[in-house]
Amino acid sequence: MCGIIGAVAKSAITPVLEGLARLEYRGYDSSGISILANNEIKTIKAQGTLSNLKQRLLSQALEGDCCIGHTRWATHGRANVTNAHPHQCGQVSVVHNGIIENYLQLKQKLIQWGHHFNSSTDSEVIPHLINHYLSQQMTQEQAIKKAIAQLKGSYALGVLINGVSNNLYAIKQGSPLVISQGNEGAYMASDAMALGADSGKIYYPKDNELIKLNSHEITLCGGANNNEIHYINNKHCAKLVSKGTRSSFMEKEIFEQVDLLKRLSVNNHTSEYSTINFKDLTKITIIACGTSYYAASVAKAWFEKYANILVEIDIASEYRYRSPIVTNNELAIFVSQSGETADTLAALRYAKSKKAQTLALVNVVNSTIAREANFTFEIYAGPEIGVASTKAFSCQLAIFYKMALEAAKQRAFIEKAELTQLALNFAQLPDTIEKVLQRCAEIKSMAKKLCKYSNILFLGRGALTPIAQEGALKLKEISYIHAEAYAAGELKHGPIALLDEHMPVLVIAPKNALTDKLLSNIQEVQARNAPLFIIGDKYIREHIHLQEDQFFELPAIPESILPIISVIPMQLLALYSAQILGKNVDQPRNLAKSVTVE
Ligand code: AGP
Repeated sequence: MCGIIGAVAKSAITPVLEGLARLEYRGYDSSGISILANNEIKTIKAQGTLSNLKQRLLSQALEGDCCIGHTRWATHGRANVTNAHPHQCGQVSVVHNGIIENYLQLKQKLIQWGHHFNSSTDSEVIPHLINHYLSQQMTQEQAIKKAIAQLKGSYALGVLINGVSNNLYAIKQGSPLVISQGNEGAYMASDAMALGADSGKIYYPKDNELIKLNSHEITLCGGANNNEIHYINNKHCAKLVSKGTRSSFMEKEIFEQVDLLKRLSVNNHTSEYSTINFKDLTKITIIACGTSYYAASVAKAWFEKYANILVEIDIASEYRYRSPIVTNNELAIFVSQSGETADTLAALRYAKSKKAQTLALVNVVNSTIAREANFTFEIYAGPEIGVASTKAFSCQLAIFYKMALEAAKQRAFIEKAELTQLALNFAQLPDTIEKVLQRCAEIKSMAKKLCKYSNILFLGRGALTPIAQEGALKLKEISYIHAEAYAAGELKHGPIALLDEHMPVLVIAPKNALTDKLLSNIQEVQARNAPLFIIGDKYIREHIHLQEDQFFELPAIPESILPIISVIPMQLLALYSAQILGKNVDQPRNLAKSVTVE
């Protein structure tokens, strides 16, 4: 999604450019800044990466104390300089994250009023509206409020106005926005990770609170007084995340999982989950998107198997449109790495309106979803920069595993001895993950062969079907190879028609109660000459003879933690395939790290 940043400070362009660099992880196709210099607003924009913008700025010694910046992820209008933000009209310049749903009607009205437009974006109507009302002798605040009253949709705005008092304004409706008062200045941004070292205290404005920032204070326009701004500490402050020696953030984050799971194994967060009354719950509904949805699918298996509790899972963008039945004593869990996914946030608001108890499982603790849920648990993955989620997924699974054990304990559904064994299995995770990562060269060899294909089927069974789905998602989102996943038993009900020597099949094949059935599915694949790749137990190897680079032998693993272990080879397979194909691993085309539009 788009990233916005603004600063009122000496040489404000510096924190803005640094902020744009921190926002790069969200994915973007163009960028730009507007700065108030020598009593005029100068706007410089560039297509492509931030370095193109910096190149354009080199030739202009721009100095000023009010600056806004933007990284654009195209929603309306192609990725080009004209459509890049900021959009300026006269003495007003605006950066926007969100979607203005009624922009066409507004654009027609403004054209009738004599306005001319350059871009095909929805956002450009905003500076024109503000400028129109300023020309009617409204104050800056009146003009902004009058303009946004006409907007339908979602927005987080930075507004720069060159006037009697040169100010920076910020306001949101539905899209994320954070404000910070530092020692050297005041700042606004789409998320706290964009703010620099001078942003120790932050404030998350409510919808439609108009904030005025100038170098010495931040005021709530129309608010009773400043006391309504309740600052909190910025947990992400100056957390300058670097790739270290790794070739990409994604590679770094895959290999970080050992330490993260060590910390989750040692810190007995289980006590955190004892605050949930699982005993009296009638149902758990878990709602999420993308990779987080696959974590929900695995969690369903654990809650039902170990705690005998009914679990429904929903794709967030589907949930509220299917008129879900929300029962008394239901817990609705919203899983989101970013905590800003618009579909998941909308589903949360729907569940709250139906009086469900809501719990957020997030990686960004101050995020909108975290702040709006009845209560929140953190997954402790640390900032995840790669657009393709990896460490956050394994941490989501780890937290769900602990929650399922807490639920099992409260509901006394399984024997104490089994509960103890399940906890001991969890403690094996860091070492087992490390063993798999140490053999990454074997996965690289598999990737060299696999990435020659244009289409791949992933198969799994039981709690490993979501892992097959996650593996397919990882591969397609960063290598652009078409991949889809099925429950292995479904193959013969249709997808088997696809099999021939051009359609490889990758099977996750552990040793468990379903292994013999899975062997039959594998033989169905081989009978149709489809190239076969297996990530599985040595038992399978004794039955299915494959070349070295087509079989990755999983270490002996207790069944309960298989989903967390078997995703690691999937992550590596996607990483190496994308590297071999020369793709941008951290910022794959068309994708954003946080999808803040529905
Ligand atoms: C995961 O690799 C994808 N980038 C995407 O599916 C992501 O999981 C999804 O957009 C949900 O994001 P969230 O966890 O921040 O809500």
